[in-house]
Amino acid sequence: MNTKDNTILITGGATGIGRSLAETFMSAGNEVIICGRRENRLNEVKTQWPQVHIRVCDVSKEKERESLYNWTRDNFKDINILINNAGIQIPIDLRKGVEALLDDESEIETNLVAPISLSVHFIPLLMEQEAAAIVNVSSGLAFVPTPFVPIYCATKAALHSFTVSLRYQLEKTSVKVFEVVPPAVVTELHWRRTEGRSGRGSNAIQPSEVAEATLKGLANDEYEIYPGWVKDFIERGRTGP
Ligand SMILES: NC(=O)c1ccc[n+]([C@@H]2O[C@H](COP(=O)([O-])OP(=O)(O)OC[C@H]3O[C@@H](n4cnc5c(N)ncnc54)[C@H](OP(=O)(O)O)[C@@H]3O)[C@@H](O)[C@H]2O)c1
Repeated sequence: MNTKDNTILITGGATGIGRSLAETFMSAGNEVIICGRRENRLNEVKTQWPQVHIRVCDVSKEKERESLYNWTRDNFKDINILINNAGIQIPIDLRKGVEALLDDESEIETNLVAPISLSVHFIPLLMEQEAAAIVNVSSGLAFVPTPFVPIYCATKAALHSFTVSLRYQLEKTSVKVFEVVPPAVVTELHWRRTEGRSGRGSNAIQPSEVAEATLKGLANDEYEIYPGWVKDFIERGRTGP
């Protein structure tokens, strides 16, 4: 699809992969809206990129998703790309019993319910556009689950499955459905998991590499986008060490 002159909403667009996606798509000649919970992080992007549009929103809450949709529809009638990028990752020790699941933040709401709900909110509007897309950011861990973040892996596997179904449902519409499957990427999420140990010697790639691969993938109508070394990681995970 055309990667210029689009109007793009990126959830979680103030940091990491989302921020790189915002910068890459703005540089390529697109109008970009980013949302996230921390206003100061959104403002940091606005300072550097005055043309970006920002909106505080917690996508794990249905009321806020609905209000994000209404605000976007009312202010950006040309919106034609939704990038479901916002995500969290929580290490969970399932041996600790049900308390292990009682965190204030829910990976299921943020990583899975939010992209499903936002897709469903936006689909009618996107279908009115001549060319449109939904882009879901999953993870290599959707295919190779790890013990440390079991719920995260499950949400990403479910997001992959949902993305495939959605692609089939929208096949005969103007809305293309893409999935970006990043490997480990140097972002705040990654630092939290590695407790800052990841640095030199880590094979984590830069967020800009994910953003460039996404731009190229959209341009080539490559519906599953595998940045960096993630394909090898998935292949090795499936065949064992
Ligand atoms: N880094 C990796 O190794 C890696 C690998 C594979 C896939 N991914 C995926 O890539 C995506 C981006 O993550 P990242 O690595 O770039 O980490 P990040 O820098 O922590 O970015 C996540 C973004 O999501 C936003 N966010 C989190 N919860 C939210 C909520 N409830 N409502 C609105 N925004 C929310 C955060 O902003 P606020 O906290 O201000 O809301 C933040 O800007 C995630 O879906 C992640 O699962 C990352």
